[in-house]
Amino acid sequence: MSKKSIIYVFSGTGNTYIAAQKIAENLYKYGYETVIYPVEKNKNGEFENVPDPNDFDAVGFGYPVHAFNSPKFFLNFVKKQLPEMDEDNFGKRAFVFKTSGEPLKLNSASSRDLCGLLRRKGMLPGMDFHMIMPHNVMFSCPDAMAKQMYLHTCQMAELVAYYVANDMYRDVRFNPLFYFVSTIFKLQWLGAKLNGPWHKVDHEKCVHCNLCVSDCPARNISIVDGFPKQGNHCIMCMRCSMNCPAQAISAGILKPYQLSGGWNFDALAANESLPANYTDNKKIGRFKCYKKYYNRTWAEYDNVFNY
Ligand SMILES: Cc1cc2nc3c(=O)[nH]c(=O)nc-3n(C[C@H](O)[C@H](O)[C@H](O)COP(=O)(O)O)c2cc1C
Repeated sequence: MSKKSIIYVFSGTGNTYIAAQKIAENLYKYGYETVIYPVEKNKNGEFENVPDPNDFDAVGFGYPVHAFNSPKFFLNFVKKQLPEMDEDNFGKRAFVFKTSGEPLKLNSASSRDLCGLLRRKGMLPGMDFHMIMPHNVMFSCPDAMAKQMYLHTCQMAELVAYYVANDMYRDVRFNPLFYFVSTIFKLQWLGAKLNGPWHKVDHEKCVHCNLCVSDCPARNISIVDGFPKQGNHCIMCMRCSMNCPAQAISAGILKPYQLSGGWNFDALAANESLPANYTDNKKIGRFKCYKKYYNRTWAEYDNVFNY
């Protein structure tokens, strides 16, 4: 291995982490050894052993879209924990990727703040790659749709790695109208904080495994009177309620929309009875935008790998 890459990734329920892993696997084919740094606090509430982007040949950032924005938690990490690029690395290209449940154009400006921060650190954002993975709140998704999303994300990870390895960066621009809408939705950052203490734990169901406490990326959960309790720094990532083995946590105002259990994507991919083109045949409503997204990204993929 002659080259080194780093991916700083925040992932609430695993989707974006999987995308990061797939990118890393593909970068390996091009001779890059990749460190994936999960953006999470340790039990003392600190970010531990944060790698210095100056030490790497390629630098990437991944996050899940939250209300048409990057999560504030992730932005704060980049702002406060990463050093500026030194003289030799100033202007280094950085790649950004994000996962979201919908391929909506409204999601397209979500990286604007992150890209602004990267520029201030001396990096030049050279990609804002959008991958679609199952929603982790609000919209449940049939197995076949999750399979399609996962397989497609695996292929998009090939593309990202190809672009990075071949230095095929491009300028990143954002539509001002979509950014304006994203800005309004930053209210979600406040909503997340306020909603934290509204999480409820069902005392009958809780099995005291304390997984939610050790797993919370913001270290916002502690044991009070024998049961988990959220503090005031919830980031609404949905990990605690999604992963609770006893389904004992209800996510405050998101209770009616919360999902549990997560996905075993490898099992879905191996299940041949599930079609891998679930959204392609849907001609109405929100599925139309999936079809457009898949057509566009397949064309990009074909252009690189099949011609
Ligand atoms: C609080 C919150 C807000 C979200 N907002 C959006 C959104 O604006 N657009 C979208 O397409 N998906 C949205 N999602 C879905 C996630 O972006 C999607 O499920 C993502 O893949 C989750 O990644 P993770 O598992 O790495 O956390 C939202 C999820 C949460 C928890």
